[in-house]
Amino acid sequence: MLNISVTKTTAPKEKPEASTLGFGKFFTDHMFIMDYSREKGWYDARIVPFANLSLHPASTVLHYGSEIFEGLKAYRRADGKVQLFRPMENIRRLNNSAERLCLPQIPEQDAYQALTEFVKMEQDWTPSAPGTSLYLRPFLFGNDETLGVHAVHNATFVVIASPVGSYYKEGINPVRIMIEDEDVRAVRGGTGYAKCGGNYAASNRAGERAEKKGYSQVLWLDGVERKYIEEVGAMNVMFKIAGEIVTPMLSGSILPGITRKSCLEVLRKEGYKVSERLLSVDELAEALSNGTLEEAWGCGTAAVVSPIGELCYKGTKYIINDGKIGAVTQHLYDTLTGIQWGKIEDPFGWTCPID
Ligand code: PLP
Ligand code: COI
Repeated sequence: MLNISVTKTTAPKEKPEASTLGFGKFFTDHMFIMDYSREKGWYDARIVPFANLSLHPASTVLHYGSEIFEGLKAYRRADGKVQLFRPMENIRRLNNSAERLCLPQIPEQDAYQALTEFVKMEQDWTPSAPGTSLYLRPFLFGNDETLGVHAVHNATFVVIASPVGSYYKEGINPVRIMIEDEDVRAVRGGTGYAKCGGNYAASNRAGERAEKKGYSQVLWLDGVERKYIEEVGAMNVMFKIAGEIVTPMLSGSILPGITRKSCLEVLRKEGYKVSERLLSVDELAEALSNGTLEEAWGCGTAAVVSPIGELCYKGTKYIINDGKIGAVTQHLYDTLTGIQWGKIEDPFGWTCPID
């Protein structure tokens, strides 16, 4: 069990208006920090006023990208209580990412304690307007003060929190997506299954190009053959093709999303035909052309589910479901957000109220 010291801010900030939230623009009054060294293990767990971090200019993270992060949300229920959604899944993924990047792992119960004590402290920052929540961003980085390239000896774990509204400006309205056939996000054997900063840095160029052409994001193809569908932007992707729900199987280059896992569990429980398999861009293009592609959506913590209304591949534009949100997409959105905001019963035991 961690011994977490608390230093309260002497200058609490004004809480932003719900209409101005957007995504990740505002931050709460405090942050959680804990340091690591090979000799001491994790030490000096503390909640302190939100402030800039001070890093040695040779700090590993600034040169060699030793950084991983997580993203999860605290939701305000109608009865005023605040609850987390599947936090242990994020903690396990954080440790899987740490293993891949040679960063120190955190005992699960300690990470859970850090997260819940921090959320308890900041819970007043959880907004209550429809569609809003408190986004939690745990991150862990290598912090050796040397330019040598090796697995780190010192690291820092931080959790910050941001009251958020919708991730895409379109909200739950369908977005336009471009299939990317040049850049790749990740390769098998690389870091695609880890949530590390470098994956996002490498994906920005394609995202920028898509935006310039009027698209919200790109649909990624695999890095070996540039043939199989992987993810959409920073989300997992699902399709309804001829009545069946199809999502790319976790190949090592795809991030195992908690929203993806939750969608699959909801769909399987309800008897939908669901398949996790390789899905080639040719099969997708064929389904787009012959009208068997009924729905497409991205899924991730930030947007929950985000319908895809248009896909562009090699200059050809395909409209999906008349550019409207489909019935399965809407059902998943309603079910997941219903459970997250405590509006419907949680038959899966996914929610963790903060006492
Ligand atoms: N894929 C990528 C690359 C992501 O960054 C995310 C977001 O966290 C996801 C998928 C969805 O994961 P989750 O549902 O756990 O948020
Ligand atoms: C998600 O939660 O779906 C994300 O991709 C988060 C993003 C800001 C990295």
